[in-house]
Amino acid sequence: MSVPFHLPPGSVALVGGGPGAGDLITLRAFHCLQQADVVLYDLLVGPDVLAHVPAGVERINVGKAAGRHSWAQRDICALLVEKARAGLRVVRLKGGDPFIFGRGGEEMDALIEAGITVQVIPGITAAMGAAAGLAFPLTHRDHAHSCVFVTGHLQHDQLTLNWTALAQPRQTVVIYMGLTGVQTIATSLQAAGLPAQTPVAIVRSATCPDQETHVTTLEALPETVRERGVTPPALLVIGTVVGLMRVENGAE
Ligand SMILES: C[S@@+](CC[C@H](N)C(=O)[O-])C[C@H]1O[C@@H](n2cnc3c(N)ncnc32)[C@H](O)[C@@H]1O
Repeated sequence: MSVPFHLPPGSVALVGGGPGAGDLITLRAFHCLQQADVVLYDLLVGPDVLAHVPAGVERINVGKAAGRHSWAQRDICALLVEKARAGLRVVRLKGGDPFIFGRGGEEMDALIEAGITVQVIPGITAAMGAAAGLAFPLTHRDHAHSCVFVTGHLQHDQLTLNWTALAQPRQTVVIYMGLTGVQTIATSLQAAGLPAQTPVAIVRSATCPDQETHVTTLEALPETVRERGVTPPALLVIGTVVGLMRVENGAE
C-alpha cells in the first residue's frame, strides 16, 4: 500500500492539473489540493480543475489575464519562495504536466536553490488528453513507432526545429504552441520530405466543454487555421494516426 501524499508546511508541490477536464487530474493531485494553504495557478487551469481547491484556500492567478501582463517567471518563483518561507503549504498548479513545456524545471531549480522542499505530481499532458478524447492512438504498430512533442513557440520571431528529424516516416509529431508559426511548420515539414497530404488534427481546448477539432492536411494547414480562426490553446497533431480518429468534436 502506498504512503498517502503529504504536503508539509513550508514546502511546495508542483502539480499537473491535466488538460482541462475536471476529472482528468490524478488522485494524488486531488489529495494535494485538499492540503494546500495557497494555490498559484496558470491561465490554462480551467474552472473545472480549480473547483477541486477547497473554499477558503488562497488562490493566486499567475497566468496572463485580460488587461494585464502575465507574471514574469522570476516573480512567480519569488512568490513561491516567499509563501513557503512563511510556513504555508504551497501548490503550484499548472496545466497538463508541469514538466512538459511548463517551465516546471525552472521553478523547481529556484525552489531547491532557496532550500525549499519540492514535490512533483505529474499531470496528463494536452497531447495525451486530446488523443484519448478523440480516440486515436499516438503510436500504432502500423502507423507510428515514435511520437515526439515539440514546441512551436517562436523565439525572436524564428522557429528553429530539426525539420529532418521531425519529417521521419512512421512518426507522430505533436506541436504545442504552434499556431503563430503554422506557415513555417507546414512549409518546412514538406520541404524536409513529409507528404503534403499527411493528415493533421488541430485540437483546441482539448477535453474542455469548448473543445474544437479541425482535421486537415499538412498542405492546407495554414489556410485551415486562418479560415477557421483557431486561437490558443491548440495543438497540431501531425501523422497518419490522425486518420484513425473515431470521434470528432466530441460527437460519436
Ligand atoms: C505552456 S504550454 C503548457 C503545456 C502543458 N504543460 C501540458 O503538459 O499540456 C501551453 C500550450 O499547451 C497546449 N495546450 C495546453 N492545454 C491544451 C488543451 N486543453 N488543448 C489544446 N492544447 C493545449 C497549447 O499548445 C498551449 O499553447
